[in-house]
Amino acid sequence: MLTQKIAQFSKADFAAEVRAGLTTTGQKELPSKYLYDEVGSALFEVISVLPEYGLTRADERLLRHHAESIVRRVPSPALVAELGSGSGKKTGWILEPLSRRQRTTYFPIEISPTALAQCEKELRHLDCVSIVGYERPYLDGLLAVAARRRHDEHLLVLFLGSTIGNFDRPAGEEFLKEVRRILCPGDALLLGTDLVKPVPQLIVAYDDPTGVTAAFNLNLLARINRELDADFDLSRFRHTVRYDEVERRIEMHLRSTCDQTVRVRKAGFTVKLAKDETIWTESSHKYSSDEVIHMARRIGFCCDAQWVDLEWPFAQSLLIAG
Ligand code: AVI
Repeated sequence: MLTQKIAQFSKADFAAEVRAGLTTTGQKELPSKYLYDEVGSALFEVISVLPEYGLTRADERLLRHHAESIVRRVPSPALVAELGSGSGKKTGWILEPLSRRQRTTYFPIEISPTALAQCEKELRHLDCVSIVGYERPYLDGLLAVAARRRHDEHLLVLFLGSTIGNFDRPAGEEFLKEVRRILCPGDALLLGTDLVKPVPQLIVAYDDPTGVTAAFNLNLLARINRELDADFDLSRFRHTVRYDEVERRIEMHLRSTCDQTVRVRKAGFTVKLAKDETIWTESSHKYSSDEVIHMARRIGFCCDAQWVDLEWPFAQSLLIAG
């Protein structure tokens, strides 16, 4: 695999964002993108096979069952770009039928070099697929891919796994607008969204009894210790999950079990946490299938088809740029 690299998140950006999030007045926050270092990415792979977390299986089931009809609806010839390829496992279901139709170039766009390497390993057996990885933020990578296409080539953008749910609703819509600006009429976006489901089912999916999601969340503090020479004592924090009914989102927090002071040496600050105060680390918004169709229309796409998994409500929507 060829990999195009540009500087991703620097230590200075990480330090600045950690400092801003922990020294703010009011709710302390850490950006969820920092959950995915090497340890966090490995823990996320484990989350995706937990019996309580059906999201990844539903996403994959839909691709497995409907790949042929999805591919049939994509204009030809098409380059494939994926925003956040992860391990690449699910993508094979789409690339396989597509590469039977045409020689296919696949551009995974990822900020994690580990995920890119894993994705290459997973997909390199596909004979008629060339893989060109972009180690960049999503929109930078997509712009670079769009710049490479010939005038007769369409783009199929994959944004799977309900990563859109990790944006606040307005930010998610704004992000998709940016994607639409990069695309040409007739290009396609396959968007995976986790759907609203009973709250107890969601709570246990994000607070599994084996404690893998807790480890995934706590690893963010461990990462700050490792990379920014901080002294978070992980035994003084608890993984906490809440569902906000109005925003229709799961929130992951880290709750301080006592009054404490933490030093983050390489970011040059000290933070005081009161007993029961929380650091908000991730939101996972849940959608309705109609909401996706309406949102698509607002941002200049038309929803050509939608496939919904009933075992774990989840939607794949094929959006065509108008
Ligand atoms: C990557 N993302 C869609 C996952 C989610 O469900 O929001 C991240 C995750 N966080 C905890 N469990 C899984």
